[in-house]
Amino acid sequence: MNGPLLKVENLTKHYPLGTGFLKKTIPVIRAVEDVSFSVEAGETLCIVGESGCGKSTVARLLMRLVEPTGGRVLIDGTDIAGLKKHALHAWRRRMQMVFQDPYSSLNPRLTAGQIITEPVENFERLSRKQRNALAADLLQKVGMSPEMMHRLPSELSGGQRQRLGIARALALQPSLIIADEAVSALDVSVQAQILNLLLDLQQQLGIAFVFISHDLSVVEHIGHRVAVMYLGRIVELAQCEALFAKPVHPYTEALIAAAPVPDPTRARLEAPVEGEVPSPINPPSGCAFHPRCPLAVERCRMEVPPLVPMADGRVVACHVRAPATDVPAQPAEAGDHSPDQVAQPHDPVQRYRKTQV
Ligand SMILES: Nc1ncnc2c1ncn2[C@@H]1O[C@H](COP(=O)(O)OP(=O)(O)O)[C@@H](O)[C@H]1O
Ligand code: SF4
Ligand SMILES: [Mg+2]
Repeated sequence: MNGPLLKVENLTKHYPLGTGFLKKTIPVIRAVEDVSFSVEAGETLCIVGESGCGKSTVARLLMRLVEPTGGRVLIDGTDIAGLKKHALHAWRRRMQMVFQDPYSSLNPRLTAGQIITEPVENFERLSRKQRNALAADLLQKVGMSPEMMHRLPSELSGGQRQRLGIARALALQPSLIIADEAVSALDVSVQAQILNLLLDLQQQLGIAFVFISHDLSVVEHIGHRVAVMYLGRIVELAQCEALFAKPVHPYTEALIAAAPVPDPTRARLEAPVEGEVPSPINPPSGCAFHPRCPLAVERCRMEVPPLVPMADGRVVACHVRAPATDVPAQPAEAGDHSPDQVAQPHDPVQRYRKTQV
């Protein structure tokens, strides 16, 4: 296969506020604005940002649970918007989602075995024997005992329920899993177990992840690359290590400063992000971060900064830190990268494991 597994081009989602009856212009919530990135097979792209910045809307757009206002989502080069029923069905097998709250996304009346084999039974009929064998195999893949297949979700712990959610996502052998705040509701020690599980599954099965979290400390250990979102837009997209070692966008810098520092030898940056996230109904002009940015200049209030490629391959949208006048002739697109940039520059499994207590 040539090209990325997933390519997102200028994805935009506006939610209209009301019907606009007798009004010329309807106000909209600008949930996602002009977002572009790509994900290679077997890669983990993390999306981070404060609550309300559009992360879950991106996930829903990728899964085609909502229709975009603009832009495209391509899987293996095919635009999913153009897929008819049969092709859409086939494509849905390749992309699965794991949610934040496994309890509300698991049918409380079904046993664990029924829950994880249900996606397969939507496509093909299974005998009782096949169903039990599949359930046992999937439970083992996520580190649970096959006997658990007879339990109801209410009889499982939070961590076990999340493993069950992952087993269900694995049932159709997807190429890509979208995990939206998949560990956010769990205790730190259980979070670590689930993250290790995801890393193991990636190594064994070559699954790509779009891993969405508001928690930078989680992202640091699991991502190959990280996209930082602010008020619907990507403001920086970089290799994980590079982003944490040297954030360029002032918002990324502030987020990292605000996150707990797992490594005491690493210096803390300046003060955390101050002020509230502005409303996506009426976002600030120019760079939406300007009311909170210590580096803001006049131009920041006037012009939306474009994503500009930097020497190390990252892209940054900031008039001061990445001025567009210094841009080489190549157009910037978050997610365009040379193959060697995504070819596992570090082993996230090793990185994660070594920070375990
Ligand atoms: N179905 C919807 N209708 C109207 N507004 C929505 C809808 N879903 C999300 N939004 C708004 O879009 C913005 C982004 O939301 P969301 O994608 O859930 O952010 P995040 O996941 O980063 O917290 C928020 O302002 C949210 O209120
Ligand atoms: S463009 Fe201006 S306001 Fe926006 S992050 Fe850069 S310096 Fe701050
Ligand atoms: Mg969300």
